[in-house]
Amino acid sequence: MTDVAAAGRKVLVLNGPNLGRLGSREPDVYGATTFADLVADCEKTGAELGFDVEVRQTDDEAELVGWLHEAADQKTPVILNPAAFTHYSYALRDACAQRTAPLIEIHISNPAAREEFRHTSVVAAVASGTIAGFGLDSYRLALRALTQLES
Ligand code: DQA
Repeated sequence: MTDVAAAGRKVLVLNGPNLGRLGSREPDVYGATTFADLVADCEKTGAELGFDVEVRQTDDEAELVGWLHEAADQKTPVILNPAAFTHYSYALRDACAQRTAPLIEIHISNPAAREEFRHTSVVAAVASGTIAGFGLDSYRLALRALTQLES
């Protein structure tokens, strides 16, 4: 495992399906902030912490798996909001298990307080840790947590 606190260290913030629709998607659950605002906020918070943050979003499971392979090959820390894939994608889970640097699972909402199908995360057991339920602060908290993590 590698030291993620090094200045200018690259961090990938990866987002799964429907998160590109933040701002218009179920604002009572996910808030009114747009995905573009989230990207800007992650880049700003990351820069303050000395990270070079790249935020990506896809609705495509294969693309997300490919990004996790890229992170594993490059020893890049990952903050991952797997969205609905959280609850059933063993392909995503197996890609996360290959991580070579910290990987933090995050959620905007608190899945444990929602429908029963959201109570299972197939990713949690192979993540460094999980942050959920703090709105877009979940992303900021994960970036802060990364400064402390080495595995
Ligand atoms: C989510 C929670 C998931 O259950 C849901 O499918 C999402 C978003 C969250 O950030 O709260 O798409 O990951």
